[in-house]
Amino acid sequence: MSFKVKDHYFNKAKKENFVARSIYKLEEIDKKYKVISKGDLVFDLGYYPGSWIQYTSRKIGSEGKVVGIDIKEVNDKMNKIPNVEVFHKDINDLKTLEELGVDRPFDVVVSDMAPNTTGIKSVDQARSLNLVEMVFFHLPKLLRNGGNFVIKVFDSNDAQNFLKAQRSMFKEFSYLKPKSTRSVSKEFFVIGKGFKHNG
Ligand SMILES: C[S@@+](CC[C@H](N)C(=O)[O-])C[C@H]1O[C@@H](n2cnc3c(N)ncnc32)[C@H](O)[C@@H]1O
Repeated sequence: MSFKVKDHYFNKAKKENFVARSIYKLEEIDKKYKVISKGDLVFDLGYYPGSWIQYTSRKIGSEGKVVGIDIKEVNDKMNKIPNVEVFHKDINDLKTLEELGVDRPFDVVVSDMAPNTTGIKSVDQARSLNLVEMVFFHLPKLLRNGGNFVIKVFDSNDAQNFLKAQRSMFKEFSYLKPKSTRSVSKEFFVIGKGFKHNG
């Protein structure tokens, strides 16, 4: 179930026909940092059920394309949207752009991936950081020079240290905790603009 907490954003998403409340996080990020543009080729990591895909497919329009992967079974509802293609795939198994059905690096990469949580803080933080590290590892082949990037991170000292070491990969590097993120949550988002392909 994607709608875990039945709050204001849960109700708003249902009313507006979005498949998850997470939509409002990407919307706020995009409004503030202008990450996604018309015609863009976008990669959505951990897309399921697909509210970020719904938002992105509208924003990029018919000349753009959004590709999503998730370890969950494909959500056929997303594949019915004309400028969308989603795959059943684990980021840890990703090797080439060709397996994503594209022949050039993406203009934008977004990741809302989250590991299955155990409730044990240190384990959850380490699992989350593993996913974040994996995305940064793949970035040079996924993201074009000058491209934009959004990633969800669970806060920890290790995560902060890791992120500090990545700052120079982007022209602009910002952190945001969107309003729709529950106040008890330790998650925040990193927004990178202007990817510097060769460091
Ligand atoms: C918070 S949900 C994403 C919600 C989505 N942004 C939306 O708007 O509907 C996080 C997703 O990350 C996926 N995920 C976790 N580990 C993954 C991995 N190794 N590779 C791909 N997806 C993964 C989970 O299956 C889950 O569906």
